[in-house]
Amino acid sequence: MKIDGKPYRTIWLANDGWSVEIIDQTLLPHDFAIARLRTVEEAAHAIRAMLVRGAPLIGAAAAYGMALAVRQEQDDQALSRAHDLLLATRPTAINLRWALERMRRRLIELPPSERAAAAYAEAAALCDEDVAINEAIGEHGAGLIRRAATNRGGGTVNILTHCNAGWLATVDWGTALSPIYKAFEEGVDLHVWVDETRPRNQGASLTAWELNHHGVPHTIIADNVGGHLMQHGMVDLCITGTDRTTATGDVCNKIGTYLKALAAHDNGVPFYVALPSPTIDWTLEDGVGEIPIEQRDGAEVSALTGRTADGRIETVTVIPKGSPVANYAFDVTPARLITGLITERGVCAASREGLRTLFSDR
Ligand code: MRU
Repeated sequence: MKIDGKPYRTIWLANDGWSVEIIDQTLLPHDFAIARLRTVEEAAHAIRAMLVRGAPLIGAAAAYGMALAVRQEQDDQALSRAHDLLLATRPTAINLRWALERMRRRLIELPPSERAAAAYAEAAALCDEDVAINEAIGEHGAGLIRRAATNRGGGTVNILTHCNAGWLATVDWGTALSPIYKAFEEGVDLHVWVDETRPRNQGASLTAWELNHHGVPHTIIADNVGGHLMQHGMVDLCITGTDRTTATGDVCNKIGTYLKALAAHDNGVPFYVALPSPTIDWTLEDGVGEIPIEQRDGAEVSALTGRTADGRIETVTVIPKGSPVANYAFDVTPARLITGLITERGVCAASREGLRTLFSDR
């Protein structure tokens, strides 16, 4: 995507041909800065501290993390150490495990002397595939937005989204936002309700930043507003991303997604989830029972960070001293609440049978 006319991905090989550059997402929306990763430890830190985040981008960063590791040490033990270090960074998004397994499978079969070049090539291929997959998701999902426009019989299509599932969460295009970008480019009259997405505010900080840069009409709302808007006919459809989808179509996404799906169900608002196939965990059947839910530092709940009027970035505490805090980062939306899954191969029902129609080869 373009920022001030310059095309960017979220991760790329630096000009030196071996280190890796990323957009440091912890600084957005206040500052746009590039960070450089030189070691597997720096790659692991970037994922854990969320300089990069979003399921597909976590996978891409882990792939390049393996390349950085193998550049330094090529034996089997080094490969395993890098794999385990990166896998331990975040527990919920399955793209991380998928990317690491893909890298390990590719590298382990090669003699150590060939591993570094192959690792960089595989990481680059994985990133290019992510871009192509997300663009295809955009094309399939744009059809749903066009249909919503036709069903309305004119006027603006209102789409609600949660968290950031835009190009910042992937290598490019995004998942949930990709259909929105495609439909917007086609000239569909649309507007996006952006859930702020506490505690880290990925909606208010990242989704709004993206939409702003691309001129897409949007409004940031507090997390609890969606149900009210749906009751008043102010949402035509919801589209979110997912960090892990079971073989039965249950979806694990940013905390609060489940409540939006319940409100959508109660109000007859279509609720779609956009996902690249590497986000499907074919080994799982029961999302609520089986998907590990990340619990993060309580400081994300107890404090807020922002820019002061005189330009300083400041963090302030917003809770009483001594009150305990819990910080669950994801929740599971059962398949029965989901109207459809938007994948790179088309749109299907959120069910084992639905996924089978598109992925009979898995
Ligand atoms: O904690 P984050 O910011 O990594 O969570 C991101 C999300 O929940 C996204 O919605 C999800 O990764 C799908 S993104 C394409």
